Amino acid sequence: MPVRIELRRDAGRIGPTTGPWIRRKQVARVQGLETAEALAEVVTRKGETLGWGLMSPQSSIAARILTYGEAPPADDWLQTRLASALAARTHQGYDRQDTTGYRVVNSEGDGLPGLVVDRYDDDFVLQITTAPMAVRRTAIEAWFRAQGHDRLHVVLPQSAAKHEGFEPGVYRQHDASTLHFREYGIAFETPAPPSQKTGAYFDQRENRRTVARLAAAHGGPLLDVGCHIGGFALHAARAGAQAVGVDSSSLALEHAARNASANGLCGLSWALDDMFGPLLGGQNAAELAGPFGTIVLDPPKVATNKNNVDKAVDAMRRLVGRVAPRLAEGGHLVLCSCSHHLGRDHLDRVMATSAGTWTRVAMLGAGPDHPVMPGHREGEYLRVGVYRR
Ligand SMILES: C[S@@+](CC[C@H](N)C(=O)[O-])C[C@H]1O[C@@H](n2cnc3c(N)ncnc32)[C@H](O)[C@@H]1O
Repeated sequence: MPVRIELRRDAGRIGPTTGPWIRRKQVARVQGLETAEALAEVVTRKGETLGWGLMSPQSSIAARILTYGEAPPADDWLQTRLASALAARTHQGYDRQDTTGYRVVNSEGDGLPGLVVDRYDDDFVLQITTAPMAVRRTAIEAWFRAQGHDRLHVVLPQSAAKHEGFEPGVYRQHDASTLHFREYGIAFETPAPPSQKTGAYFDQRENRRTVARLAAAHGGPLLDVGCHIGGFALHAARAGAQAVGVDSSSLALEHAARNASANGLCGLSWALDDMFGPLLGGQNAAELAGPFGTIVLDPPKVATNKNNVDKAVDAMRRLVGRVAPRLAEGGHLVLCSCSHHLGRDHLDRVMATSAGTWTRVAMLGAGPDHPVMPGHREGEYLRVGVYRR
């Protein structure tokens, strides 16, 4: 007997425009054995089939819809969607010599909730964040191997594992402590998992180019706060601007410095500091004093749920307050949020309530290798506001 998830009468509207997540509080009852292996038919109280989804028996998200309507997905839905995701990147032009680091699978955006795959040259990092994807791990790995991609790193993060109920860990069958990739011709290396995200932040790729153009046009140096392996700083240096990168991770800064010299880029320096502190730079005080033509503020996720958004706005405002006096006349301040709770209106609120009068010249997001399923608000997490005082 197929598993059926019957929704409560007050579950609210559910359909292609409302996003694929069925929360447990929307569920009246489950008929059949609730397992991460089974596909569930999602039905209304009147028995009307809304769609079919993957079940997470222990999670507050009970199911994630794979397909809307009466017909269940075909048996090979997993393989078909993986093939379609890979083909989409080739059609978008990512599969080429000058950019070899890009996202191959973006979870719900590719119809594969709970699976993210990032490619670093010949290495593929598979990050699995839901129970139904964790039980399909062998099939996912087998598909990649069948395509000739056998340098696989499988990451099952601790926090997702706890929430969804699967074993966390990092698995690979080859030696690798470092991942390599090229981004518009710049060579990068970054620590392999366990590390930050899958290794690097591909979601900011297009923004690094845009900001580099602004930095070079202004001529003043760029301050890259939360620089990780030096992405914004290196792109700015290649475009002709000097840059200073700040991060609290000494490992990330070691890689940033190595990336600069591997590409023969000069005019770059790095400072180990806490962006939520005074940001005075210690021994690097002179380098952080400014004035800067461009300042990038790319913090870690500051709003983890909708209840701490106001606190996050305050923290961002304090951060802006400490660095904005170092911005040169006519320069740009680039304020990033990687939390879907902290959206474009919140970034505008930070700037509108900061000292000075600011205008927004652009609101950027992730590139085309990070597709979003329409209606899936949680999938649209990266917002990058570019402001001018
Ligand atoms: C969203 S990532 C930045 C990505 C990077 N800008 C890029 O383009 O690849 C956030 C960065 O902030 C750093 N970070 C986290 N907490 C920090 C803190 N308190 N002070 C400084 N850096 C911090 C992390 O090490 C990470 O590199």
